[in-house]
Amino acid sequence: MIPSQLRLGVNIDHVATIRNARGGEHPDPVRAAQIVAACGGDGITAHLREDRRHIRDDDLARIQAATDLPLNLEMAATEEMLEIALRHRPHAACIVPERREERTTEGGLDAVGQHNRLAPIVSRLADAGIRVSLFIAPEPRQIEAALRLRAPVVELHTGEYAHAEGEQRAVELKRLADMAALAAKNGIEPHAGHGLTYDNVAAVAAIPQLAELNIGHYLVGEAIFVGLEASVTRMRELMDAAR
Ligand code: PXP
Repeated sequence: MIPSQLRLGVNIDHVATIRNARGGEHPDPVRAAQIVAACGGDGITAHLREDRRHIRDDDLARIQAATDLPLNLEMAATEEMLEIALRHRPHAACIVPERREERTTEGGLDAVGQHNRLAPIVSRLADAGIRVSLFIAPEPRQIEAALRLRAPVVELHTGEYAHAEGEQRAVELKRLADMAALAAKNGIEPHAGHGLTYDNVAAVAAIPQLAELNIGHYLVGEAIFVGLEASVTRMRELMDAAR
């Protein structure tokens, strides 16, 4: 099925990064979530990392209480995060790989090699009514692994596309398009995200099977200059124009 509108999930982690730089309460990611809700964002994405470097535990409940937008919780496949997800019951949980020393989520989840570790986590989240997504590289074997894990959603990592230069950009874009089509053909809803900007979003947004993009760093960075409402509104316009 081809979704009619491409949803925009706004990752507000880096509002919390700036807050945490001074250890106080400002800027509050809850206020960011409220602005996103008011200006056409379709969801809030937040990554509770093991080291709590941006979003903190208490942010989750505050974000959930402050807006009606669905919360997409990005989480590592650990018992600790599973327990937190089951307690908060976000609309969706996106399982991501996590290494303490990385600056951001640098690669996709190895859904092939990690099958046995992921299977009980995926099923416990699903049993709790949480929509499970796996953040994977756009590779056929990862889609096949997601299928074996019965994940209803995959989020395709767009980092390679975003960082590619010259002719490689088209190669990476084709990989994303092919894997979105493969996922959709197998009944998995494809999403995409990482490294998307005003300049590179259109080609990804034009991939017809994609149902959702999750975008964070660039939107929060732009918000420093133009405000969050303006950056989210502009991204929304670019996504809509590409469809
Ligand atoms: N999707 C997932 C699963 C992520 O982990 C992240 C953050 O790394 C994003 C989307 C957003 O990426 P960015 O902040 O580069 O827009």
